[in-house]
Amino acid sequence: MGEGSMTQPPLNRRPSWRLAPPDDARTQGVVVSGFSDLPWAEALFLYAKDSGAAWINALRAAAPITNAAGKEKEARAAALAFTCTGLASVGLPYEVLETFSPQFREGMYQEDRLRRLGDKIDGEWQSTVIRGGPIWSGNVPIEQPATATPSTPVTVHALLLLYDKDQADAQRWAAEVGQTLAPLGVTIVRQLSLDLRLDKRIGREHFGFADGLSQPIPFGPSVVLSDGRPSERDPWHGVPLGEILLGHENAHSEKAPGPFIPTDEKARADLLPEGAPEGFLNLGLNGSYMVARELRQYVASFWQSLRTGAERIRAHDPNAAHVTAEWLAERVIGRNVDGHLLCPSGFPAAQDGLPQNDFGFMRDDRYGHGCPLGSHVRRANPRDGLAKDAASAQTLLDASNNHRILRRGRKFGGPVDDRYRDDQQERGLLFMCLNSDIARQFEFVQQTWILNRNFATLFDETDPLVGPKGPFTVREQPLRRIVEVETFVQSAGGEYFFLPSIPALDYLGRL
Ligand code: HEM
Repeated sequence: MGEGSMTQPPLNRRPSWRLAPPDDARTQGVVVSGFSDLPWAEALFLYAKDSGAAWINALRAAAPITNAAGKEKEARAAALAFTCTGLASVGLPYEVLETFSPQFREGMYQEDRLRRLGDKIDGEWQSTVIRGGPIWSGNVPIEQPATATPSTPVTVHALLLLYDKDQADAQRWAAEVGQTLAPLGVTIVRQLSLDLRLDKRIGREHFGFADGLSQPIPFGPSVVLSDGRPSERDPWHGVPLGEILLGHENAHSEKAPGPFIPTDEKARADLLPEGAPEGFLNLGLNGSYMVARELRQYVASFWQSLRTGAERIRAHDPNAAHVTAEWLAERVIGRNVDGHLLCPSGFPAAQDGLPQNDFGFMRDDRYGHGCPLGSHVRRANPRDGLAKDAASAQTLLDASNNHRILRRGRKFGGPVDDRYRDDQQERGLLFMCLNSDIARQFEFVQQTWILNRNFATLFDETDPLVGPKGPFTVREQPLRRIVEVETFVQSAGGEYFFLPSIPALDYLGRL
């Protein structure tokens, strides 16, 4: 997923957004780009207990972290983010850690966060988590290091993403970085090979659907278009830059709050005071929070289950010849395999050579006769679809846009030969997204829309793609079809990360 999963830019594609100087050179490149021209990547999960901060500069020498100022020139790219326990391990003082957001400090494995994410409820891991619980996280919240026991077997302090044109080169680079870090006491505790291999010029996730299509489009004084024009607010997907980058104005017309350090720390790096309380420097400015979740996908289970569901419907209804596994799968996602929106009147025309993304649901598909109310895309971004009438459609669209996330995930695991056969291969999506307010953006999407059992007018069902086993309603006129879907996606680990700006990385390296 991520900007540019649909690579091979078609003619007349509209310009993408960029950052203006000086913010571009101060921001990690992964903020403005999914690096779709670098189809291979290695995700290295690092553990750095008691290793100090010296490893950060050694790592940056072996894997220079790409900034947002000129990614076209890059033959390869890298991004680096830290968990809260990772920042503690490099020596960031407790008083500074306290200035990060509560969600980041608590981490994904705090009980309340686990409940919101639907991972663990009343002490029980849910079916959307692999058996025995997740393998990795940042572990022990920094607030209670003395008493808390590690919640996952593997502790992750940092996530390094290495992007390359060629798989062998990406893996060689990862091995070199590992050799650089080992003498400094930093180990690679988990590694996932990621890719964006194309199929018929389209980036697809493992179930076979076009992915990475719909993204928020930031605007604001620090944003320009790739053709040099100033950015304007996109009517459908426009979000203030501060929804993605800390220290910039967000949807609440305030500077997105981030961590800060006392001004007398200035000597250590080129950090700025903008957006920090008086007497402090803004450690968060041009940084972001990155959510990462290793989501396993069960491809054979997905297709077999939908085939069985379709057969059952056809057996009971002579008018259901059109209900096939593919038909149901498209409705689970809410788009067809090539990414075109399902509309009652057929697919909308392409936009700039890509599937149409400038649409609301209120006008053309209010009741979900095309794109089901509970489909993944409608839950993940309801747009104006939750409005009670046409008059409130704009208000609801604006409200939905207060919960957008910038997706940067990629799939791991080999290609699927026969989607109905379980080949026992581990594969899935390393879901990654950027946002400045984890609770209002990522957690809200997951809790209030994706896992909401009463979403829209539905009763007792959740997202049919990423939720637990249960019913999924597809409205057709005059019928309403209900199909039982299995659990197709399970989390194997995850954490909230801080993606520092380039000056913040300099500061951390000098601790
Ligand atoms: C293995 C798990 C997942 C798969 C296979 C998957 C797949 C997809 C696909 C095929 C699309 C439609 C194409 C596009 O707009 O990119 C999509 C859209 C989207 N997904 Fe997922 N997804 C997964 C998990 C998640 C999770 C966990 C979240 C958030 C909590 C999420 C949030 C979104 C959002 C925000 C959109 C865009 C909706 C829009 O703006 O229209 N996805 N996903």
